[in-house]
Amino acid sequence: MASTWSPQSWQEKPARQMPEYPDKAALDNVLARLKSHPPLVFAGEARNLQAALGQVAEGKAFLLQGGDCAESFAEFHPDNIRDTFRVLLQMAVVLTFAAGVPVVKVGRIAGQFAKPRSDDFETRDGVTLPSYRGDNINGGEFTPEARIPDPQRLLQATAQSAATLNLLRAFAQGGYADLHNVHRWTLGFIADSPASEKYKGLAQRISETLEFMAACGITTESVPQTPATEIYTSHEALLLPYEQAMTRVDSTSGDWYDTSAHMLWIGDRTRQADGAHVEFMRGIKNPIGLKCGPSLDPDDLLRLINILNPQNIPGRLTLIARFGADKIAEKMPALVRAVKREGAKVVWSSDPMHGNTIKLKSGYKTRPVERVLEEVRSFFAIHRAEGTHAGGVHFEMTGQDVTECLGGAQAIKELDLGARYQTACDPRLNASQALELAFLIAEGIRDERMKDAGLAASA
Ligand code: PEP
Ligand code: CO
Repeated sequence: MASTWSPQSWQEKPARQMPEYPDKAALDNVLARLKSHPPLVFAGEARNLQAALGQVAEGKAFLLQGGDCAESFAEFHPDNIRDTFRVLLQMAVVLTFAAGVPVVKVGRIAGQFAKPRSDDFETRDGVTLPSYRGDNINGGEFTPEARIPDPQRLLQATAQSAATLNLLRAFAQGGYADLHNVHRWTLGFIADSPASEKYKGLAQRISETLEFMAACGITTESVPQTPATEIYTSHEALLLPYEQAMTRVDSTSGDWYDTSAHMLWIGDRTRQADGAHVEFMRGIKNPIGLKCGPSLDPDDLLRLINILNPQNIPGRLTLIARFGADKIAEKMPALVRAVKREGAKVVWSSDPMHGNTIKLKSGYKTRPVERVLEEVRSFFAIHRAEGTHAGGVHFEMTGQDVTECLGGAQAIKELDLGARYQTACDPRLNASQALELAFLIAEGIRDERMKDAGLAASA
């Protein structure tokens, strides 16, 4: 029998990846302040997202989740927020057109700071220091002082999250996200892309569709869906003292919600069924994600599903597959079958980033865009073969023109990485690589739909 849950019941369980704060009194002081901080999101919004994800689970919508690996204090700038949002919107329009269903947009943004690390320590030139764990915990500079966990950073990260979310809401509702704008930006991207021929056809069809809609009287002025959109926020629920402080009873439903984001996920390193992170997440009513990596076996997954979504509510649980292009075909089908056999209602989403990270001799961590695309393609192929819905994609990306991942139409090479390698953690797709991937995925989805339609017609 599950024992009673409370926002602090996780403290009775083993918690991995947690920083050791040297000044406990300072931490308690900050957490007390956070407890009375206004919520960043409203529980009703989290319920709306869960309902939208419920549609994804049923195959009637598609999930696009993306943003920084780690937000940072240094990159906090309105232009960065705008540019990431813009690429997400562009990707969403292309995917909506291809999939013929609504695309639910969820940013890794406005709170995605804390990072799990494979090693507790980092060594450079014979010097060993505690690892960097994200800007809300310690500093990335390689000095002993910077690497000490400082609770004041939580207040700065929360303020940054609130300001980021405020701007996102303004963009989403204020007219910036107008469908016609978004498509115009995409046409600009295509004109500048070395691979423009490849994307022209699909973009042209979207243009024609917009013209057709306008001719039918569906315009920015006449239909509220054209100028406005919805964007939700998400991050890894890693730093449990922070998540606990932001967890409140919703006065409408009487349920507990973690008000630090609409959606939270459990990382691949902290998904132990008897661990603190799973304990915390089972009790909050937000929609949640679970990263599924190569070491997860079907029995463990079913156990976790049982703990995290005992009432089998569609949209409550998103399984984020992150196996690597070379392992997905071996590892994922057994999980998909087990979930299907049990009748568990989940969203399956593909994170083609975290299983495809390589470290070069030069010291750069990078990801070849080819491998990223290969994993997404395998993900779609496996779901097709199993008769399940490939529900979404999850990317680490930025709107900036960084040089962190290899390849793409700009053909970024090893020697180019140093030019603009700016990430606070893992390598991100830049704006054009992200949009290119959306086009390539869109082509695949559309081809399949056309094939299905053709088969249906001749059957
Ligand atoms: C992440 O999403 O940034 C991450 C650390 O992923 P994972 O837990 O899948 O390794
Ligand atoms: Co990452």
